[in-house]
Amino acid sequence: MSDQKRGMHGIWSGRWTFILAATGSAVGLGNLWKFPYITGENGGGAFVLVYLACIFAAGIPVMLAEVLLGRKTRMSPINAMAKMTEDTGAPKFFHGIGWMGAISGFFILSFYSVIAGWSLAYILKLAGGDFTGSDAAFAGETFGNLVSDPVGLTIWHSVFMLLTGVVIARGVNKGLEAALKILMPVLFVLLLILFGYSLTLSGFGQGLHFLFDFDFSKLTGESFVVALGHAFFTLSLGMGAIMAYGAYMPQEQSLGKTILWVGVLDTLVALVAGMVIFAIVFSNGLEPSAGPGLMFQTLPLAFGSMAGGEFFGTVFFILVAIAAWSSAISIAEPAVAWAVEKGFSRIGATAAVCGFAWLLGLGTVLSFNDWAEYKLFGKTFFDTLDFLTANIMLPLGGLLIAVFVGWFASSELVKKEANIENEAVFNAWRFVVRYISPAAVCVIFLHGLGLFN
Ligand code: PFF
Repeated sequence: MSDQKRGMHGIWSGRWTFILAATGSAVGLGNLWKFPYITGENGGGAFVLVYLACIFAAGIPVMLAEVLLGRKTRMSPINAMAKMTEDTGAPKFFHGIGWMGAISGFFILSFYSVIAGWSLAYILKLAGGDFTGSDAAFAGETFGNLVSDPVGLTIWHSVFMLLTGVVIARGVNKGLEAALKILMPVLFVLLLILFGYSLTLSGFGQGLHFLFDFDFSKLTGESFVVALGHAFFTLSLGMGAIMAYGAYMPQEQSLGKTILWVGVLDTLVALVAGMVIFAIVFSNGLEPSAGPGLMFQTLPLAFGSMAGGEFFGTVFFILVAIAAWSSAISIAEPAVAWAVEKGFSRIGATAAVCGFAWLLGLGTVLSFNDWAEYKLFGKTFFDTLDFLTANIMLPLGGLLIAVFVGWFASSELVKKEANIENEAVFNAWRFVVRYISPAAVCVIFLHGLGLFN
């Protein structure tokens, strides 16, 4: 393994830049689109509690482990895992974590770009006042028309992928860092504006009850799997995105507090987005369980019937697009960094990675129309990719990372690299990564298979 590759992609310019970048990666469609609708589908409060438990028992500890591996090696996840496996003498299959991550990345980017494309389309629809004074049938029809038109979907998918590629091609400092320094503050301001707005709505209290009242009878085995999968998805774990960002982190930065910041910010954004969305849903007497269409059908309808709805609706979909953009660049970064280490130019690597993900994305485009009837185990092409990545590949990647750092990386190495000053905190984290996180993933997998019911 040549050390020439070490650090060749650049280093974040400061402590806050990593937090900005990792939060940009974490906060995305997962928080704004997926979290509200899976919470709606899984009955609310109890699901949120399981999700929070997964974030703290598995998500945040694994995030620290991933960043540690990235910063130790300063290479793309594929080469990072190759080097760490070699250096620690761990079984060779741990090398596969990097490869599995790259494959998950292609899968996720392919459908992520299609859904993000919907949000671009909806910015124009809301700004144009399409929904003002409309009814549920119109909102359903508008969404139906959008997703049943493969050409339109492909155009929006292409625009989003292009936006993603432009940032990545410019490199870590001039591209990712420069974009994130603008996008992330805008994202937070927009979210705060919407939160302020939701506080004025009559359904705010009902939304809070829905999110935070625990009714465990609504949970199924699958709810646990979905909550765990979502914890990994929303924190961008298990596929190398955060590992790649960790590779650009300054050496002196202590990992513990930094990672906690990212985990807490991501969770807060999900909860605030949930409060905003359910306040709007309940204020309009709508149902929270609409599935993936929740954001695109229920919300525009709600915005259409509210004072200032055109403005706030447009703001909302700009927020979604920005959040998706800052996440998409992190999904592509591991594969791009690897290709650059292989000798490709940054632009060539970006074109290849985004081009390939774009092509795969056509499968998702078609699964809403021409291929809607083609199903594998009852799932369309898009559902299959979503299920496979979020519920299987990411938790599996996270499990392997926890086992690798917990059991195969030496205690001295881990301690030096984590740079956590407080001994008790370090020991607690190491214990969680060795025992609790792997056990949580295994138990939930088995539970999902119905073995504990
Ligand atoms: N965390 C992102 C979200 O919540 O939308 C999605 C994501 C980004 C998943 C990066 C995986 C990843 F590696």
